[in-house]
Amino acid sequence: MTAIPPTKVVFDTDPGVDDAMALYYALAHPGIDVVGITTTFGNVVVEQAAANALYLCALAGRHIPVAMGVSQPLQKKPEAPPGFIHGADGLGNLLMRVPTTGELDPRPAAQFIVDTVRQSPGEITLVAVGPLGNLAAALQLAPELPSLVKEVVLMGGTVLEAGNVSPVAEANIWNDPHAADAVFTAGWPLTMVGLDVTHRVILPLALFKRVADHHQHIATDTLHHAVRFYSAYYSAHDPAVGSINGCYGHDVLAFVVLTHPELFTLQAGRVRVATDGLAQGQTMMRRKEVSYPQHGWHDDIPHSQVCMAVQAQACEVAIEQTLMSAWIDI
Ligand code: BDR
Ligand code: CA
Repeated sequence: MTAIPPTKVVFDTDPGVDDAMALYYALAHPGIDVVGITTTFGNVVVEQAAANALYLCALAGRHIPVAMGVSQPLQKKPEAPPGFIHGADGLGNLLMRVPTTGELDPRPAAQFIVDTVRQSPGEITLVAVGPLGNLAAALQLAPELPSLVKEVVLMGGTVLEAGNVSPVAEANIWNDPHAADAVFTAGWPLTMVGLDVTHRVILPLALFKRVADHHQHIATDTLHHAVRFYSAYYSAHDPAVGSINGCYGHDVLAFVVLTHPELFTLQAGRVRVATDGLAQGQTMMRRKEVSYPQHGWHDDIPHSQVCMAVQAQACEVAIEQTLMSAWIDI
C-alpha cells in the first residue's frame, strides 16, 4: 500500500487561542505538513501574532518559517483587538514566557506565500483563519496565484447562523471585508468553514486538561491555560457553551475539514462580502442559479464550497485523539 503524502499547508493566522488549537492540531496530525506560517493582525496586533506563532512552534520543538504580514485592513479603519476573548497577549494572558529561540522570515507574508506556492505549484493548501489581508496582498503580487494553489480553506463568514460581531457578520471577514471579497472572488478552489459549523462544535475545557495531563509538557500546558481564559469568555456569553464549560473550536475546524472531510456537508455557491454599511462583513451566498438584476452576482463569480453542517461529536473525538498522539518533539 502506498502511503498518502501529507497535505502541505501555509497557515495564515492571528494567534489567538483557537488559532493555537488549530496550529497544534495541524502539527499533531500526520496528514498535515505545515511548511510555513504567515501572521496577520486580528485577535492581536500583527507583531504579537508573529511572536505567538514563533513561541508556540518553539514550545513544540518545531522549526517552521514564520513571516509577518499585514498590520491593518485594506480599506476600513482597524477594529480594536478583542483582548477580552483571547487575552491581551492572544494566549489568555500567560503568566510568563520561557526564553525561546526563533527568528522571523525576513519576507512579508504575501511574498512568502507567493514564493512558497511558486516553488511547489499545485501542492500548497492555504489555510487562513484570520482576516484575509495576506491572501489579498499575495493575489496583488501574483495574479496567477489561483492557478498555482492547490486549495484555500478559510475559517470565516456565516450563511444561515447569526454573526458574532453583528447579526450578520463573522469577525475575520468583518475585520477586513475588502480583502475577504477579493479572496472569495479570486477563482481558486475555496472552502469556507464558517459559523454555520463552528458554532456546532463546542469543545469542553476538560478536553484540553486531559491533553495537558497526558503530555505533561509546556506546549500543551500553555494551550490549556489559553483555552481556560477563552472558555471563560464563551461560557459566560453563551448558555449552550457555559453548560459544558467550554468554547468554540472555530479555527481548528479549518484543519479538521482537511483531515476528515466526511464529517462536513458542503454546499456550492457564489459568495460575496458586504464591504460597507450596517451589513459590513456579511458573507452572502448565491445558492440558486438565478439571474439577479443586482450588479455583482454574475455567473463569472466563482463558486465556493461552504460548510453548512458538521458531525460535531466526531470532530471533538478527532481533535482529542490527534492532540493525544505523540506529536511534541521535545
Ligand atoms: C474567528 O475570529 C477570531 O477571534 C478567531 O480566532 C476565529 O478565527 C471566529 O469568528
Ligand atoms: Ca483566528
